[in-house]
Amino acid sequence: MKSAATRDLMATLSRPGIISLAGGFPDTRAFGEEAFREISHNVAADSAQALQYGPTAGLEGIKDIIVDVMAAEGMRANQEDVFVTTGAQQGLDLVGKVFLDEGDAVLCEGPTYAGALNAFAAYRPRILHVPMDRAGMMPNVAREALNKARKQGIHVKFIYTVPNFQNPTGVTLAVERRHELLKIAEEYDLVILEDNPYGMLRFEGESLPTIAALEQETAGGTDRVVYLGTFSKIFAPGVRLGWVHAQPGILHKLNIGKQGADLCSSNLTQMMIYSYFKHANWGGYVTRLTTLYKERSDAMLDSLAEFMPKEVHWTHPEGGLFVWATLPSYVDATSMLPRAIARNVAYVPGEGFYAGGSGKNCMRLNFSFVEPGKIRRGIELLSEVIRERMELRSDMERASQLGGSRSAVGNTER
Ligand SMILES: Cc1ncc(COP(=O)(O)O)c(C=O)c1O
Repeated sequence: MKSAATRDLMATLSRPGIISLAGGFPDTRAFGEEAFREISHNVAADSAQALQYGPTAGLEGIKDIIVDVMAAEGMRANQEDVFVTTGAQQGLDLVGKVFLDEGDAVLCEGPTYAGALNAFAAYRPRILHVPMDRAGMMPNVAREALNKARKQGIHVKFIYTVPNFQNPTGVTLAVERRHELLKIAEEYDLVILEDNPYGMLRFEGESLPTIAALEQETAGGTDRVVYLGTFSKIFAPGVRLGWVHAQPGILHKLNIGKQGADLCSSNLTQMMIYSYFKHANWGGYVTRLTTLYKERSDAMLDSLAEFMPKEVHWTHPEGGLFVWATLPSYVDATSMLPRAIARNVAYVPGEGFYAGGSGKNCMRLNFSFVEPGKIRRGIELLSEVIRERMELRSDMERASQLGGSRSAVGNTER
């Protein structure tokens, strides 16, 4: 296990005056004290249960809520196929624990969610990154990677994908590619780990069926898809509540893994979520959040267009929390970060989203947590820092050309 050097820098980001586009935070300020007080009051009526240990797989009530939430995303979930976790993050860890032996491989998007790489790393797999374009992971390259792994005798255990408004790129996997991934999973006998924290945070375009929904539609059940959901982005990450939906054989193993990890997730927060999702208009809250994020995403995209040098490119998310920017190949976003922080703006360098050191000239920018005016200022500052780097490079090139021609002159003189 190793800690990224950038993580230590991130610790400075609470300094006043810094515009942090680095976090991955939903805006929990939108929830409000009154609504929070009401659900706390409801839970207090059954304080003994809220304060008690609970079943490892989760309370029955919350599983009903999860079935409803999945239905709202177009999936027919069964209560007995639902397993409650301490955030989707624990789902990632438990799936790693159950499926991965040292030297096995995971096929995933390149770049991918750094927290997943971190969770899997403890089980020492090889990470096979599949490049993405605007429509997400490229299935033909996935096939090539699988064929190559097969020839080398490497056991690929699952495909990990974040299909909607991916963290870190904001890119969405096209529907035909979702079908294609299912076919690939069938052909190569793989599980698909579908991690979908952002699916409901769509502020533009048409909703797409999840891979789990497509599997239900085509195969009549959930066989290969292990689906991860979470309340972090539709409610609040502070409750640390997520879930896995999968076939019972897999859930049984996850249950054993979870017993060794934390026995059970918090009854208190399961009951808070139950109270809110049962009685309040949770869909209305999600709409409020997406309206807020749309405004901020627009502010970010507009200011990128206004301020960035033309050599910089970025993604155009239809939902979620992130934009991914690609700088000229010679600009190292990791080594540029201290300079950006000194100028009062922060981002996450792209390198951490790859297992093998790619993505150095990329960065993840978060728009969900900062007000539009600050986003604009942050992008303006960032573009100045990038220009500085680019100019430095031009100066160095000019100097080396000059040096080169001088020494050529010197040679002839001699
Ligand atoms: C793709 C992805 N998966 C999982 C998680 C972890 O979420 P949770 O808060 O449910 O543990 C995150 C958090 O940002 C994420 O972006």
